[in-house]
Amino acid sequence: MTEEQLINQKFIIKGGNPLFGSVKLKGAKNAIGKIMIASLLTEEEVILSNVPLNGETEIAVEFCRHIGSEIIRQADKIRIKTPEIKNFKVEGLSRRNRLSILALGPLLARTGEVEVPMVGGDKIGARPVDFHIAALEKMGAEIKIKDTTIIATTKGLYGSSVVFPYPSVGATENTILASVLAKGRTVITNAAIEPEIIDLIKFLQKMGAIIELGSNRQIFIEGVEKLSGVEHKILPDRLEAASFAVMALATNGDILVEDAVQEHLIAFLNTVRRLGGGYEVKPDDGIRFFRKGPLQAVHIETDTYPGFATDWQQPTAVLLTQAQGNSIIHETVFEDRFGYCDDLKRMGADIEIHPKCLGGLACRFQGKLYNHSAVIRGPRPLKGTSIEMKDIRAGMAHIIAALVAEGQSEITGLEHIDRGYENIDGRIKDLGGDISRVDLN
Ligand code: UD1
Repeated sequence: MTEEQLINQKFIIKGGNPLFGSVKLKGAKNAIGKIMIASLLTEEEVILSNVPLNGETEIAVEFCRHIGSEIIRQADKIRIKTPEIKNFKVEGLSRRNRLSILALGPLLARTGEVEVPMVGGDKIGARPVDFHIAALEKMGAEIKIKDTTIIATTKGLYGSSVVFPYPSVGATENTILASVLAKGRTVITNAAIEPEIIDLIKFLQKMGAIIELGSNRQIFIEGVEKLSGVEHKILPDRLEAASFAVMALATNGDILVEDAVQEHLIAFLNTVRRLGGGYEVKPDDGIRFFRKGPLQAVHIETDTYPGFATDWQQPTAVLLTQAQGNSIIHETVFEDRFGYCDDLKRMGADIEIHPKCLGGLACRFQGKLYNHSAVIRGPRPLKGTSIEMKDIRAGMAHIIAALVAEGQSEITGLEHIDRGYENIDGRIKDLGGDISRVDLN
């Protein structure tokens, strides 16, 4: 479906049904695009499975085809082969997400020059790319920014020591992608170590890269001459896992989230237990979520992995509107990630947003005027309303709020949710939720 068609659709949700049953996780939205970009590092064929059929994958396919990839798709499999880089200029494409900047490394390695648009993605803060650019410059790239285009050239990338001021996911991935074919050894200090980054590393290692994981957020990469085609299964989406878990707890239902990986969800599971939720880790097939008693207020601070993910924050906030007492969320990853709370307030939630750090984690936003802490008083009944989604995770918060609310909600902005979640309405319907997708008239 095109973005234009999605803009002309809305969800109608009638709240109140508890959600029951089982749902299988799709491949991680935050891994698929990067792994497709990584496939540009070889001329040989790469075969990917467990590919999510969401907007993020569509953007990555469009992007790689434009560069010269031959792509064959069959259900959740993608075969991708890039014998030749036909276009090192990527105009206009991919302003909708953050992939284009990650193509700098692979395209510099293969052609020595590249032009990509400045990145887009969810509007959750300034989202600068200064760490990416500084790392690539240190590795021998010359980078100019002209209006909204990044122009990079190199006579050859070489290994270097890259120290990040903050463990950025994208900048860590970019540096890894640039260094696997660079001359010599790269050391990344203060790297991000999210499961999607480890999946990218596993993929690159199978292709022939030499990458070591040090202790204390260090990653060591020894450049190699050539990488080969491989097969790879995309890891399950831990952010989707938390969304379904919250649906079970918020609607007082019981959902088995198949393929959920405990190791990826440790901080989330601790929060579930603290707030009175129950979970059962199944030996083979995922994690079941249910309520154990009344929901209780909790204090959450978002952080880089292995901390509580910033992308879990929004659905969890909806859950906290239903918990007894005053909950606190301190958002330390993005400075502007509570915009969706205005909609929750219109639905009846009692939420106050503060610029102060409400928590003890070292936070880059301390003393600045960013509204990055929330106090949520509960429980409060929610009532249905009309909402426009503005980003992926906020969109999920809106959907869950509508599933909990009394009455009917109408939600527009489906292009956001469909970028991050495959067939979200169909899967919620299968769990017993009253949701339908209709054309706007
Ligand atoms: C990725 C995820 C996103 C998730 C986020 C944090 C994808 C496609 N998106 O986004 O879902 O919420 O990680 O887990 O994987 N920063 C700078 N300069 C830079 C780069 C980042 O200051 O050059 C700052 C950002 O503004 C932000 C923080 O670092 O405050 C973390 O950003 P980063 O980890 O880079 O997030 P993304 O990779 O964009």
